[in-house]
Amino acid sequence: MHIDRCICYQVTFVDVLKDAREKQRTIAEVEMSLGCGGGCGLCRPYLRRCLRTGQTSFERVLTDADEPE
Ligand code: FES
Repeated sequence: MHIDRCICYQVTFVDVLKDAREKQRTIAEVEMSLGCGGGCGLCRPYLRRCLRTGQTSFERVLTDADEPE
């Protein structure tokens, strides 16, 4: 399994990381800006991991338990 984007909004985690770093945005601000995370919400642990570590591609399922708010 290869997970690299918010499926609901087709926003890649590469674009999420770029937006957050270039514009010094928080996760909430990135979500407002790009729309990701505002649908089913399943990508939210990935968004948190992405901003926390810089990882933009994942090989296993992450849940809120893996990456708490
Ligand atoms: S996968 Fe990102 S909101 Fe559904």
